[in-house]
Amino acid sequence: MIVALLNQKGGVGKTTLSVNLASSLARDGSRVLLIDADPQGSSLDWAAAREEQPMISVVGFPRPTIHKELDQIGQGYDHVVIDGPPRVTELARSAIMAADVVLVPVQPSPYDIWAADEVVKLIVEASVFKESLKATFVVNRKVAKTAIGRDVVEALAAYQIPTMTAQIVQRVVFAEAAATGRAVFEIDGKSAAAAEIEAVRAELMELVA
Ligand SMILES: Nc1ncnc2c1ncn2[C@@H]1O[C@H](COP(=O)(O)OP(=O)(O)OP(=O)(O)O)[C@@H](O)[C@H]1O
Ligand SMILES: [Mg+2]
Repeated sequence: MIVALLNQKGGVGKTTLSVNLASSLARDGSRVLLIDADPQGSSLDWAAAREEQPMISVVGFPRPTIHKELDQIGQGYDHVVIDGPPRVTELARSAIMAADVVLVPVQPSPYDIWAADEVVKLIVEASVFKESLKATFVVNRKVAKTAIGRDVVEALAAYQIPTMTAQIVQRVVFAEAAATGRAVFEIDGKSAAAAEIEAVRAELMELVA
C-alpha cells in the first residue's frame, strides 16, 4: 500500500499520524518506508531522536517528482507512507499521483474544515486521471464529548471524500512518543492512543483491499 498523508493546512497531524501509522504497519514484519516529503523534515527529526533499533526506514524526498521516482525509491518495501508538507501544492499533487490512498487529517475546528477545501480539490482533480485513487478524512485531536467533535463529521460530509470511522483523540502521549522517536504503542501497547492508531491502520487496509 502507498498512503500519502496530505493537507496543505499546517499542524493538522500529518507527521504524527505518518510516523505512528508507518510504525504500526511494520508490526507484523512488513517492510515499511516513510518518505518525508516536507522540507521541514519533521519525520526525519523523529527518526533521528530514536535510540532503539528503527522499525521503519525514513528518507527525505521534498521534491515534486515522487510519483515518477517512487518505483525506484520504494523498491523492496511492502508499504510506503508519504508525510506531506503544508502549503506546497506541487508536492501534494505529486504525492497524490504516487498514492493508492490519500489520508487527510483534519482537526475539529472550523478553520480546518474550511481549509480542507484545497486538498479535496487536488484529490478530485487527480481522480479524473486516476480512477483507482482512494481518499478519506481522518479526524485528529478530537476532544472527547464536545459538540464540535460531532459537528466536524457532519461538516466534512459536505465534501466529496468520505470520513473514516476511526478517530484520533487529543492525547499528550503523541507528543511524548515523538520526543524519543517512538510510536505510541511502544510507550504503552494497551493504551487508547495505540488502539486508535490500530483502528486507522485497519480501516485503511480495508479501503485499499
Ligand atoms: N492526536 C494528537 N494529540 C495531541 N497532540 C497532537 C495530536 N496530533 C498532533 N499533535 C501535535 O500537534 C502538533 C502538530 O502535529 P504534526 O506536526 O503532526 O502536524 P503536521 O500536519 O505534520 O504539521 P506540518 O503541517 O507543520 O507538517 C505537534 O506538536 C503534535 O505533537
Ligand atoms: Mg508535518
